[in-house]
Amino acid sequence: MPVHSEMDPEPLLSLDGILPDNQVHVWHAHIKAWERVIKPLHNILDGEEQARASRFKFPAPRNQFVISRALLRQTLGCYLGIEGRDVRFSYTANSKPQLDGNADLQFNLSHTEGVTVLAITSKRRVGVDVERIRENTEPLDLADRFFSRREVEWLRSQPASEHIPSFFNCWTAKESYVKAHGQGLSMSLGAFSVLPVAGSNRLQLRVDDDSEECDRWEMWRLDLGADIRAAIAVEGTGTRIRVGTWPSPGE
Ligand SMILES: CC(C)(COP(=O)(O)OP(=O)(O)OC[C@H]1O[C@@H](n2cnc3c(N)ncnc32)[C@H](O)[C@@H]1OP(=O)(O)O)[C@@H](O)C(=O)NCCC(=O)NCCS
Repeated sequence: MPVHSEMDPEPLLSLDGILPDNQVHVWHAHIKAWERVIKPLHNILDGEEQARASRFKFPAPRNQFVISRALLRQTLGCYLGIEGRDVRFSYTANSKPQLDGNADLQFNLSHTEGVTVLAITSKRRVGVDVERIRENTEPLDLADRFFSRREVEWLRSQPASEHIPSFFNCWTAKESYVKAHGQGLSMSLGAFSVLPVAGSNRLQLRVDDDSEECDRWEMWRLDLGADIRAAIAVEGTGTRIRVGTWPSPGE
């Protein structure tokens, strides 16, 4: 019996640090559960990260940053066989963190109010994005500004009651692709489309004037909770996606 299906990624049950080349591992955590151990988590960060944490004006985004960065360090440390505090990052010109001196293990992190998500791959680019649905969003206006024509048409074809969640479906999908490339705002958001594949958690990428680019990537929607939308873009084909929850502290 297959343990993996389109709608139900094979679960990751333990953080054993073993990552076959054809897999992408996705770890997610509920930030609230980690707040009671914020001090030891803060100690895992390096001086530059601690300085960045101290510049946050409000506790909620500060905790979100500290917890996300500490879990990132601990998890990467597990895959590398070193302590989380010994993980060394370097940054691209667009500020995308990567492992210093290790081009094989690739990762991307995303966090939103209450949730943090990390994707890890071997030898292939990856991007992940998570957003909590915000009801005070103007989905059609934002889509007109940022989405491709195809995406705007798709959004407008959805029932009005679905406009806001559908907007976040599309936004996170686009953002995951942008983040996989690491180019940030320099990428033209209207020049590509990412739309759902009916009956599947797969996402279909289309890039204007570059059909080969579409074959270079696999993309999925991630189900991480009712008010949350998330997506992942992975370079290459034939990738198996596995999803796990970081056990809460003390578990
Ligand atoms: C970082 C960026 C790529 C994503 O930001 P975001 O969605 O606000 O934040 P996320 O939580 O998803 O991701 C932040 C994490 O991505 C990583 N990151 C930073 N720069 C990155 C880059 N250029 N590419 C990929 N990942 C990056 C970091 O780990 C960062 O975590 P940190 O802030 O704790 O250090 C953002 O700067 C950006 O340029 N976004 C594109 C904006 C846009 O208009 N998107 C529209 C999509 S329709």
